[in-house]
Amino acid sequence: MVETATTPTWRNQLPLHHHRRWIPTFFSTQKTLLAALWIAFFFTLFMWQQRSATPGFLFFRRNFVARSFPKLRPVAFNLTDFGAVGDGVTVNTAAFESAVMAISKLGKKGGGQLNVPPGYWLTAPFNLTSHMTLFLAEGAEILGLNDEKYWPLMPPLPSYGKGREHPGPRYGSLIHGQNLKDVEITGHNGTINGQGQTWWKKYRQKLLNHTRGPLVQIMWSSDILIHNITLRDSPFWTLHPYDCKNVTIRNVTILAPVFEAPNTDGIDPDSCEDMVIEDCYISVGDDAIAIKSGWDQYGIAYGRPSKNILIRNLVVRSMVSAGISIGSEMSGGVSNVTVENVLVWSSRRAVRIKTAPGRGGYVRDITYRNVTFENLRVGIVIKTDYNEHPDEGFDPKAAPILENINYFSIHGEGVRVPVRIAGSEEIPVRKVTFRDMSVGITYKKKHIFQCAYVEGRVIGTVFPAPCENLDLYDEQGNLIRKSTSQNVSDIDYDF
Ligand SMILES: *[C@@H]1O[C@H](CO)[C@@H](O)[C@H](O)[C@H]1NC(C)=O
Ligand SMILES: *[C@@H]1O[C@H](CO)[C@@H](O)[C@H](O)[C@H]1NC(C)=O
Ligand SMILES: *[C@@H]1O[C@H](CO)[C@@H](O)[C@H](O)[C@H]1NC(C)=O
Ligand SMILES: *[C@@H]1O[C@H](CO)[C@@H](O)[C@H](O)[C@H]1NC(C)=O
Ligand SMILES: *[C@@H]1O[C@H](CO)[C@@H](O)[C@H](O)[C@H]1NC(C)=O
Ligand SMILES: *[C@@H]1O[C@H](CO)[C@@H](O)[C@H](O)[C@H]1NC(C)=O
Ligand SMILES: *[C@@H]1O[C@H](CO)[C@@H](O)[C@H](O)[C@H]1NC(C)=O
Ligand SMILES: *[C@@H]1O[C@H](CO)[C@@H](O)[C@H](O)[C@H]1NC(C)=O
Ligand SMILES: *[C@@H]1O[C@H](CO)[C@@H](O)[C@H](O)[C@H]1NC(C)=O
Ligand SMILES: *[C@@H]1O[C@H](CO)[C@@H](O)[C@H](O)[C@H]1NC(C)=O
Repeated sequence: MVETATTPTWRNQLPLHHHRRWIPTFFSTQKTLLAALWIAFFFTLFMWQQRSATPGFLFFRRNFVARSFPKLRPVAFNLTDFGAVGDGVTVNTAAFESAVMAISKLGKKGGGQLNVPPGYWLTAPFNLTSHMTLFLAEGAEILGLNDEKYWPLMPPLPSYGKGREHPGPRYGSLIHGQNLKDVEITGHNGTINGQGQTWWKKYRQKLLNHTRGPLVQIMWSSDILIHNITLRDSPFWTLHPYDCKNVTIRNVTILAPVFEAPNTDGIDPDSCEDMVIEDCYISVGDDAIAIKSGWDQYGIAYGRPSKNILIRNLVVRSMVSAGISIGSEMSGGVSNVTVENVLVWSSRRAVRIKTAPGRGGYVRDITYRNVTFENLRVGIVIKTDYNEHPDEGFDPKAAPILENINYFSIHGEGVRVPVRIAGSEEIPVRKVTFRDMSVGITYKKKHIFQCAYVEGRVIGTVFPAPCENLDLYDEQGNLIRKSTSQNVSDIDYDF
């Protein structure tokens, strides 16, 4: 869940120098570049209108050099064998279901592969099966039907007690799986498109009575591999592994508009263990990644942590929320998370831990290493008053524990507030370490390393100068100054 974005003045500060090397010298002046961008914009708009207006959009489809499907399972099916038509209009739910049914009988023989050829394959939600590979050719796009009456309702997640947005049941996901083993979703960068626009609009107009469905949700499963594909425009959270073990997500592009695509988180590992997320590009309308483990009393009762999670080599963007988040639902606990080699660009916040009294649980043993900030409002955030509760039944005395949180090699530029760690009397933040940090600032020099109720240390020199709450050590690890003011507060939300 997000706060309302104020009008950001930093919204147009794209990190141009990253792309400069491929901008031809023709665009040497800003003016020509601007003109070219306008032309590109109107051309895209024109194409988009063509595409939305008539089925004639197929005209505009690129011709894809037919690349053969690699054989990843002993038996492979072509989606068209089950009567599917990739015209963007025919509803192919029955074809997907028959294909999955056929594959479900092959488990003992090493499973089956479903090849989705180039085309637009409209479908209502369907379930996957174990020992299955879903392979999306280049130019293959699975399109989610956006009429909610085709979306089955499912019981609330046990660790949430209710739908995230409404009480009672919730819509299932477009591509769904429960109690599975050995599932792969891959391809030559084919796309799963949730066509979320209709859902976002209905959500904003308060026309929905149930929580929106994710794009891909895999529950109570293990050995899941998702790679070499694109996920876009999810109605709600994009990829939601729930209470799963051994999940790898690699080389996936996740896209949604950066504004007005509410709650389109990229990847939400939820009560999951042994997970790797690497080599991905994520730019969405909410957190790019949010590690969770259930909500208040329901999450405490379910009691399944998220742990042993490695996140690396990503480029992420979130104008509304944060690049990499933990929480706010973390009541089952979150531990042993490493986030490394991540670039967060043109975003509201970079890395955020969010929680509140009532959550219980813990966030501990978290390491951020080699994270680069580029044009952000706030870099590092810990927020302990994210007071959004499932119902009145939460225990306000259930205070989460936040400890052993390391920030190593944090660099960047164009950041207004590099650090805002707002612990509280009930939820102090303990054992925080900063080492090797230099972040260029945009706004003012004072009160930009903000702390309250934080205990921890700074090793070596960091820029900007750390808050007085932290102990100072030299590079060799000798104590220079012990802080006597861990609990003073210098939090200022005004900038
Ligand atoms: C799948 O079926 C379509 C339509 O029949 C055909 O064009 C395509 O070549 C088939 N692909 C494979 C790999 O068999
Ligand atoms: C998928 O399976 C779950 C669990 O059996 C079921 O509740 C749900 O309705 C199924 N979804 C579809 C689209 O068939
Ligand atoms: C990523 O996936 C694309 C296809 O989607 C593939 O061409 C590329 O080689 C993959 N890269 C890596 C590093 O896996
Ligand atoms: C995959 O497709 C997406 C969306 O079109 C694109 O942004 C991305 O660069 C592609 N990835 C690769 C590895 O080609
Ligand atoms: C929501 O509930 C109202 C009142 O029961 C009903 O009129 C409306 O059709 C429902 N909307 C949806 C999308 O189910
Ligand atoms: C994890 O899942 C992958 C498939 O995605 C599998 O190859 C691997 O053996 C699994 N690892 C363990 C420890 O089970
Ligand atoms: C994904 O891309 C990587 C790198 O190109 C490749 O090694 C891997 O085989 C690809 N996976 C599939 C299923 O093509
Ligand atoms: C922490 O997670 C990593 C994977 O990121 C794993 O290799 C390591 O064993 C875990 N450590 C503990 C103490 O479980
Ligand atoms: C730090 O991360 C960036 C990507 O953001 C990567 O290019 C660079 O190689 C990493 N540096 C180290 C020392 O791993
Ligand atoms: C700071 O507050 C915490 C509890 O919120 C307390 O345990 C600790 O002793 C306080 N530290 C100081 C130096 O007052």
